[in-house]
Amino acid sequence: MTRLIDGKAIAADLRARVAEAVAELADRDISPGLATVLVGDDPASRVYVRNKIRMCAEVGIRSIEHAPDADISEGELLDLVDRLNADPDVDGILVQLPLPAGVDSARVTEAIDPVKDVDGFHTTNAGRLSAGLDAMVPCTPAGCMILLRSVCPDPTGKRAIVVGRSNIVGKPVAQLLLAAHCTVTIAHSRTVDLDERCREADIVIAAVGRAEMIKGGWIGPGATVIDVGINRIEGADGKGRLVGDVEFETAKEVAGAITPVPGGVGPMTIACLLRNTAIAACRRRGMDPPEAVRLS
Ligand code: GUN
Repeated sequence: MTRLIDGKAIAADLRARVAEAVAELADRDISPGLATVLVGDDPASRVYVRNKIRMCAEVGIRSIEHAPDADISEGELLDLVDRLNADPDVDGILVQLPLPAGVDSARVTEAIDPVKDVDGFHTTNAGRLSAGLDAMVPCTPAGCMILLRSVCPDPTGKRAIVVGRSNIVGKPVAQLLLAAHCTVTIAHSRTVDLDERCREADIVIAAVGRAEMIKGGWIGPGATVIDVGINRIEGADGKGRLVGDVEFETAKEVAGAITPVPGGVGPMTIACLLRNTAIAACRRRGMDPPEAVRLS
């Protein structure tokens, strides 16, 4: 029987643990705060940031909202980041991507104090993660690992393939799998015989950004499939629907466990952002995070 990995329920459980940690911090007069920076009026970014702010409120994290116009200069945005870095009431800083053309996203990301970098995008955090040091772990990769461990508590020695090599998902999730003692292959859209490489794996992390590219026939019997993709396609009825990077209907016939889209990895990303904010509030004060949000 294939197990469906319920990202919605697992994310709700993590948010409850963050709420518990935030309440524990309140007893010590610490009130974690997340600064969100939404530049311009990209509709998808607006929805994402609105959801992040709503979820912050649900777990008791303060939001500090900044929404500069799309014509803000790179210099002005860097000044805003500097002010947030220096603000003692700000524990985490989230600059929603993509940024408008003309603003160098990498420069802005690098300007964030690594201790407040709750996205885990700063090269200091990327480097620390790959060196096996304490780091802010990027949210989607952290969420993938929690989902994986829900069906495979100890992945030691398993063969894992990550399809996709982005800085935000593919590379960091590969580092996390390695730290969990998996044997890791990083593949991508130009990998030769990708189907065969996938079939050899016990764990498939699909983060390539192409709708339903990974077919059921590419999945080894009993493998665990974590699908990071969120792609909007036109269904047979002419209506839009969301699909992952894996062809769910065929893959679920072979996999041992699989995440659905939607309702798999998606809800984990915000839950992990909330957890990172609580962790950042502690690390900034030289404290260990409460047990409820400690990274395993
Ligand atoms: N844009 C899409 N996903 C993300 C994310 O996780 N963090 C930020 N900062 N921007 C995004």
